[in-house]
Amino acid sequence: MDHPIEAPHATRLATLPSAGTQNSCKIDVNGFQVDAVDSEYLIEAINRSGINVPHVCYHTRLGPIQTCDTCMVEVDGKLVRACATKVVGGMTVVTETSAANAAQREAYDRILANHVLYCTVCDNNNGNCTVHNTAAMLKVDHQTYPYRPKPYETDNSNPFYRYDPNQCILCGRCVEACQNVQVNETLSIRWEDDHPRVLWDGGETIGGSSCVSCGHCITVCPCNALMEKSMLGRAGYFTKLPSDTLWGMIDIVKAVEPEIGYGPILQLSETEAAMREARVKKTKTVCTYCGVGCSFDIWTKDRHILKVEPGEGAANNISTCVKGKFGWDYVNSHDRLTKPMIREGESFREASWDEALDLVAWRLNEIKAQHGPDAIGYISSSKCTNEESYLMQKLARAVGGTNNIDNCSRYCQSPATQGLFRTVGYGGDSGSISDIAQAKLVMIVGSNTAEAHPVLATRVKRAHKLNGQRLIVADLREHEMARRADIFFRPKPGTDMVWLSALSRYMFDNGLARTEFLTQWVNDVDKYRDSLAPFTMEFASRVCGVPMETLTRVAQEFAAAESACILWAMGVTQHCGGSDTSTAISNLLLVTGNYMRPGTGAYPLRGHNNVQGASDFGSMPAYFPGYEKIADEEAFARYEQGWGVKLPRNKGLDNHEMVEAIHAGKLKAMYVIGEDMYSADSNANYVGDAFSKLDFFVVEDCFFTLTCRYADVVLPASPSLEKEGSFTNTERRIQRLYQAMEPLGESRPDWQIIQDVANRMGAKWVYTHPADIMHESASLAPMFAGVTYDRLAGYKTLQWPVAVDGTDQPLLYTEKFNFPDGKAKLYPLEWIEPCETVDSEFDVHLNNGRMLEHFHEGNMTYRVPGIHAETPHGFVEVSPALADDLHLVTGQWVDVTSRNGELRTQVVVTDRVHEKQAYMPLNRPQHPVNLITGNKTDRATHTPAYKETTVKMKTLPWKGPDPLPPLNFRHGHPTPQRGVEVERKWGRSDYRIPGGDNGLVQIQTGQRKG
Ligand code: SF4
Ligand code: SF4
Ligand code: SF4
Ligand code: FES
Repeated sequence: MDHPIEAPHATRLATLPSAGTQNSCKIDVNGFQVDAVDSEYLIEAINRSGINVPHVCYHTRLGPIQTCDTCMVEVDGKLVRACATKVVGGMTVVTETSAANAAQREAYDRILANHVLYCTVCDNNNGNCTVHNTAAMLKVDHQTYPYRPKPYETDNSNPFYRYDPNQCILCGRCVEACQNVQVNETLSIRWEDDHPRVLWDGGETIGGSSCVSCGHCITVCPCNALMEKSMLGRAGYFTKLPSDTLWGMIDIVKAVEPEIGYGPILQLSETEAAMREARVKKTKTVCTYCGVGCSFDIWTKDRHILKVEPGEGAANNISTCVKGKFGWDYVNSHDRLTKPMIREGESFREASWDEALDLVAWRLNEIKAQHGPDAIGYISSSKCTNEESYLMQKLARAVGGTNNIDNCSRYCQSPATQGLFRTVGYGGDSGSISDIAQAKLVMIVGSNTAEAHPVLATRVKRAHKLNGQRLIVADLREHEMARRADIFFRPKPGTDMVWLSALSRYMFDNGLARTEFLTQWVNDVDKYRDSLAPFTMEFASRVCGVPMETLTRVAQEFAAAESACILWAMGVTQHCGGSDTSTAISNLLLVTGNYMRPGTGAYPLRGHNNVQGASDFGSMPAYFPGYEKIADEEAFARYEQGWGVKLPRNKGLDNHEMVEAIHAGKLKAMYVIGEDMYSADSNANYVGDAFSKLDFFVVEDCFFTLTCRYADVVLPASPSLEKEGSFTNTERRIQRLYQAMEPLGESRPDWQIIQDVANRMGAKWVYTHPADIMHESASLAPMFAGVTYDRLAGYKTLQWPVAVDGTDQPLLYTEKFNFPDGKAKLYPLEWIEPCETVDSEFDVHLNNGRMLEHFHEGNMTYRVPGIHAETPHGFVEVSPALADDLHLVTGQWVDVTSRNGELRTQVVVTDRVHEKQAYMPLNRPQHPVNLITGNKTDRATHTPAYKETTVKMKTLPWKGPDPLPPLNFRHGHPTPQRGVEVERKWGRSDYRIPGGDNGLVQIQTGQRKG
């Protein structure tokens, strides 16, 4: 049922500026002049003014849902929902009329028919329960409508959270979040049911549904209907009571309520909530998994993690994925390393820190003296903090005397950085996630964004679903983003550079190139245009195996888009031509003028939480922090002076070259922090052989990884929750993390260990806190000149480069590109075939990559019981066609053999892959996919060509159950709809607008925020 819109208001609506404009105005609220913004939701302006109006279903990040009716106010004499009414300058609002108050109370009474206020024994009684706080705000004393339980059981089938229908007030926030923020489209409410409730996949159990356990729904739930299981029985003083006792107490409270009213009952619960403050610690941290950089408060009670509460993070606000929301149990894993260990023959013995550190320093100094400083290699970690990366490269250069320092961006991101260095000058995303969200067109190349960068993907999914953003996806695999795309095509493996270049040529040939932009901002246009001669659409179609019509359509859509972003990841970079393809992407963006404006640009999606920062802060052989070249005399002199030592000038080795140098007998020792190189580098057998040849090997980590097996000394490090520092996400956004708990056992933060090693090797470092390290870094690297811990306090962030006065750059290129003349460069490219293609023996192309629920090699996520339960095994995906050929069914065991090694695994038959292409998740502890990847690398950066692996498959005579258990979300069937569809609730015969005769007049119906 649509609500009537009065003609005069409709006229006024027609003159409103479009949503999103920032025209400030004044409105009259209860006789006060209140600042507002034209066309914002009235509830926002009222909230800011400090006047209290209840609003249960409204959530700033979700926009109007209009299910609860508690926000009734009078506008110009008519009753309206404040949450869905847009501000018009000069409007008169009264929040306290008898009609409004009666309507608010009536609406809240209806909520209590669905919810028992047992706050004192509720784990959600933490001062932030909307249902509780609204009862207090409205001074609810008695309940008009009796509580009516719903005829459904609590659903406990998900490992991480539970749904209690009997506490569910049917506000629909969870549905809105799932449908339109996370856009997993699992949740709905069937308003027509006798007893509506929240449904997963239309009526499935949570555990059997498509729910990806991202936690959006729990985060926005205004009460305890959806709760993290880690909270239950743990948050409150009285919440661990046995069920019988608990319900006995609840019944007593309910029995006295008619007599004493809710006032004293709520007061008691507020006292209990205040007592919780003393024992529940809330610490702001930054996710330790992917490069999206979600930040949130983590609630802990001693070492127990109660929950993760997002809300203020610049990259994510209310969003998380399963890893950030629920993937933290590994910090308490029984097999955390808690003591240093020293090799004795074939095994290890525990040692004191003094003994272990003395040994490390002595052996590194000895090898340096014997074989020279370049006989030692240092590997920093993209899971460690910026400050730790800075110290690790300083250790290598200033103490070790070598530029042999690298980090795992070599395994994924270096080619993207190289492509951007060649064309636009900075090796980082050219804008922010908000630019991606507002782009009119997003093109994704070689990125399984929904699984590898889940929260960033939600912004694309939402913009595509609600705001008409166009989506083009090029990938080998039909993953979620491909399924959602307006155009999806599958270029042959390793050929993306060709179709991208053909698109650029098409733009020139058809008058679609942005010539004004090119003339003003780009060098080498003619040279580049000449280089495009071979890249006709016919050529691209032939090489890439994509129909000409598809490529032409893509070119035309791309050219026509008012603003476009290109996102890419390891499907592009992990090829022999990874740098060239990244360059081709940036070339195309330049040709079409898609830089220097909001909603445009290049977005190489950074994989690890701090892979951006590890490179930014200098853990690369050729660069000081801030990408200043070692060969740059001015920078070199600055660092020599700043550090007070002579620095090495000779070229350092990257991590690929280090492995080669060990085999060549030139590299004798390594110090690796936070990196399971054996599992993460390609050709694990070759890497393992190298490690076994080292004279001395130090590994610093939280767990005894496969790499540790080769170590002489293993040093126990602390994960992110146990230390302070900062991470830099894919948007170049530097964010602080704070210590949530003490280091476990004798483990220590890496920055302390590195300092201890340095000082025992002869340095005199005196850093007392990571802030000291950031301060030094900012004083030396112009890119971070204005970075201070104060400017990063709490949820404040900075996106580099940061000027001395603290001005940062969310959009990277506004006034110039990062070259001396301020102009970008078009970079000519030549097509070179992939270095490994299928032949008659190795006839299957093997792709590999991440999964939503596991991270990278799985060292952390396999130690999270809930994630392990959802996805306990490795597997290989094969297409129905290949399965037919090889007589394979899901669950069948196969031997997968490449030119470099072999693996035994189970098969999942799926149309996500096609023809003779297979896909293997890279996380499988003990049996990493890199046992079969090879030694070929990107020509420019030495990033392994993981994605250029061909294999043969042998069917084995054993079959087990599906390696993806029924609990896995991939078996689910989402139920997409455009939100909570409140109109269906309004259409129920038993629905009445609260407010009686003064019934509601909707001035404007709510519109979704983009
Ligand atoms: S996917 Fe699952 S956890 Fe995420 S919002 Fe939807 S129902 Fe909630
Ligand atoms: S479960 Fe969903 S509909 Fe029910 S109270 Fe929570 S957010 Fe509202
Ligand atoms: S893994 Fe990535 S998307 Fe998921 S919560 Fe962490 S930072 Fe966010
Ligand atoms: S806040 Fe629920 S209808 Fe307005």
